[in-house]
Amino acid sequence: MTQKKLKLKLKPKFKKILLIIGIILILLLVLFGLYVNKRNALSSLGYSDKAIDNIMKKFKTSYVEEQGENKMLNAAFESKDYQEDNLENYAKIEYQDQEDIVKNVNALLEKGYKTSEISLILSRGSNEDVTEFAKREKVDYLEEFLSVDYAKLKNYDRYVAYQDLENEDAETTVLYVNLDFDKEDYVDPLEITEFDQYVLVNKHRQLTEDYVPDDLVEFKEEDTKVDETVEATEEVVRAFEEMKAAAAKEGLTLMVNSGYRSYQDQEEIMQIYLDAYGQNYVDNYIAKPGFSEHQTAMSIDVASATVDTFVESDEYSWMMDNAYLYGFILRYPRSKEDITGYKCEAWHYRYVGKEIAKYIKENNITYDEYYMMFLDK
Ligand code: DAL
Ligand code: ZN
Repeated sequence: MTQKKLKLKLKPKFKKILLIIGIILILLLVLFGLYVNKRNALSSLGYSDKAIDNIMKKFKTSYVEEQGENKMLNAAFESKDYQEDNLENYAKIEYQDQEDIVKNVNALLEKGYKTSEISLILSRGSNEDVTEFAKREKVDYLEEFLSVDYAKLKNYDRYVAYQDLENEDAETTVLYVNLDFDKEDYVDPLEITEFDQYVLVNKHRQLTEDYVPDDLVEFKEEDTKVDETVEATEEVVRAFEEMKAAAAKEGLTLMVNSGYRSYQDQEEIMQIYLDAYGQNYVDNYIAKPGFSEHQTAMSIDVASATVDTFVESDEYSWMMDNAYLYGFILRYPRSKEDITGYKCEAWHYRYVGKEIAKYIKENNITYDEYYMMFLDK
């Protein structure tokens, strides 16, 4: 009886407490719901958990939501280098996957670069290139050179120096400097360590002494005009046979004089020509060992079965018109000597595949130019 009375007495107060707890719980639940909702919204825009934590801590949720998906903002909020003053600039900059991007963007903004210029800078170099560039004083001709698609940030000073000297337009300047035309032939060459079917070998790009392609195949004996076996890559031999068959339908007989040449073969050839014709001839027609495309096994010296001076043969004319259809390009054409570094060699063809060969033929450019515009990494 006493117990019952006590219960009845406490009930209203207990109810009130329960009500308050209930309201608090509901409020917490609503807040939690809102919080989860915001996180989900940011997450669906591509922001990482770490970035979302910081976006919410800094009360920038609405701003970020307004910007929508933005990789640079995500990087900024993930970074310890985030600067509140730069927030709106971050949002305008095109992201690149670079470790120090936020730190470098801060430094570039500090130097006075516009966000569009910073996007260009980031897109034309590696993390290390941008880090170095961000340390220097603001430069004057940034957009002129870096707007060229294949410009390289690390070559900026060389572009300026080359243009001062040669007075070429920005596009040509960028192309030629990327091809190292501001350096002497064979001086400080790039050593090719990653090899693929598109490799560019010229007087500035060297294969290692021990490089030997692993898919060498012999040309048929009746296709070679020399008393020794001639090899090239499997694909090149196959493409040559296809081309030879097409030429044969027009009564022409294509043959080969040379294909793959090892580093040592090239050394011997160079010595033979040096002894016979002298240095000037060698400079114009013979690559130094390591610098010959023949070492790639993707170049062939084409011959006519019936005429010894190839340029006087019908096979030569046919090749000039049709080789590209089979993936071959005349590698050292007349009037391109300044680019290729060699005098015209009517017989030397490089296999690049049908698509690239067609582009090069139609646009009357060299493989050096094509490679630098479209393939260089
Ligand atoms: N004749 C070409 C340039 C070579 O020696 O590879
Ligand atoms: Zn050749």
